[in-house]
Amino acid sequence: MKEISYKDLVINPFDLIGKEWMLVTAGNEESGCNTMTASWGHLGCLWGHNDPTAIIYLRPSRYTKEFVDRECYFTLCIMDESFKKQMAYLGSVSGRDEDKIANAGLTPVYEDDTTYFAEAKMVLICKKLYQSELQEDGFIYQDIVTDNYPQHDFHTMYIGKIEKILVRDE
Ligand SMILES: Cc1cc2nc3c(=O)[nH]c(=O)nc-3n(C[C@H](O)[C@H](O)[C@H](O)COP(=O)(O)O)c2cc1C
Repeated sequence: MKEISYKDLVINPFDLIGKEWMLVTAGNEESGCNTMTASWGHLGCLWGHNDPTAIIYLRPSRYTKEFVDRECYFTLCIMDESFKKQMAYLGSVSGRDEDKIANAGLTPVYEDDTTYFAEAKMVLICKKLYQSELQEDGFIYQDIVTDNYPQHDFHTMYIGKIEKILVRDE
């Protein structure tokens, strides 16, 4: 993998997150890691000098959330289309129940006190800056709550500063 600047990124964030999906991963070699598929999130600028930031949203039930809560970093891995089946699997079973990473045939790379996968075509290494659970009284339209949170299991949003972007060195 080679590091590139966020200034050199040419991507459509809507396709990248919403259609291609990403793997959210946290943890390290010593204390273990977990990963899950995510298709809700944002890329943009916030704080500092328009610092590049990523936002992800995790429901309380996700095992990955325990790792993201515990660690200072999380990573976002963008995979090739050929990994769609593995991503569907990683987004439907929990790391509490099985060794998802091994079953999906992914190779963890432990770096910068976090984990990403050697098979990724792009990796964003993010330092957690802010986390907060979405609040019911913040919703302007109640139907979003009714449609998405019948159990009131509101997502926690995590804002991470994108400290490193790695792309496959082809
Ligand atoms: C395409 C897709 C997108 C998903 N996006 C999210 C998301 O943005 N946030 C979230 O909390 N769960 C999302 N999920 C659900 C988690 O990936 C799923 O519950 C996963 O099994 C959690 O694994 P874990 O318990 O090992 O963390 C998504 C699942 C799929 C298949």
